[in-house]
Amino acid sequence: MPVSYAEGGAAIVSDTILSVSDVRARYGDEHILKGVSIDVPRGSIVALLGPNGSGKSTLLKAIYGLNVKRSGTILFRPQGREAVDLLRLKPHEVTAHGVNLVPQLANIFPDLSVYENLEIGSIGDRKRTVERIERVVGVLPLLRHLLRRRAATLSGGQRQTLGIARALMSEPELLILDEPSAGLAPNIVDGVFAQVQEINRRGVSLLIVEQKARQCLAIAHYGYVLDQGRNQIDGPSARLLEDPEMIRLYLGARRRQPESH
Ligand SMILES: Nc1ncnc2c1ncn2[C@@H]1O[C@H](COP(=O)(O)OP(=O)(O)O)[C@@H](O)[C@H]1O
Ligand SMILES: [Mg+2]
Repeated sequence: MPVSYAEGGAAIVSDTILSVSDVRARYGDEHILKGVSIDVPRGSIVALLGPNGSGKSTLLKAIYGLNVKRSGTILFRPQGREAVDLLRLKPHEVTAHGVNLVPQLANIFPDLSVYENLEIGSIGDRKRTVERIERVVGVLPLLRHLLRRRAATLSGGQRQTLGIARALMSEPELLILDEPSAGLAPNIVDGVFAQVQEINRRGVSLLIVEQKARQCLAIAHYGYVLDQGRNQIDGPSARLLEDPEMIRLYLGARRRQPESH
């Protein structure tokens, strides 16, 4: 079904690229997701928000096929004739279909160069690796002068950018990011969100888990809040930013900010 976000700032009309419906997930006997549903419209940035432990990373693992028992419906390109049932796939197969995940601690290889890390991210036709690196560096230009550096010598922000770049090497249609701003200084965080917007401008759909809810909603078209493994609030970002219940429960004044000295 076409979705329009007239209230969401940049109005977009789109079909759905990812449809998650009534997903349950558990680790052993511990049931974490108790029926979660989200949609990512093609071409959009969707924010996935909620308190620590609410199940956000678990939902990303369920979508990507990482070590969690899952049930429900998770379809990539659900409307197309080639709708892909992600519940049946392993992570590398999900990547091959056009969905890639950057986990919270971007999993880069510290002993390899930036260039080599990017090479590893390239899948399928290896002959296109050089061309892909050129394209990815075009999207994330701060990497251009770092290509020969050992990844271990990068700053936190540069590492995060490399983790995102490596995921882009598989040319995903949908990129999933788990707390890309975690552990980064505020001025660096702005840069990461700007990178996300740039990636989106190049046509990639994004699903982003974030603790920096206001900042994330500022660049997202739509947002979902999970709490205790269930959907709580969702809506166009602009509306969520003004919703009194959203503000009271999940955007709360400055109570989570550290004291300034
Ligand atoms: N590998 C695991 N085994 C058992 N429990 C886990 C595992 N990973 C996460 N959990 C539990 O699942 C719940 C949700 O975690 P998570 O999805 O990481 O939340 P969020 O990303 O929203 O902070 C938490 O209670 C957490 O302790
Ligand atoms: Mg998490």
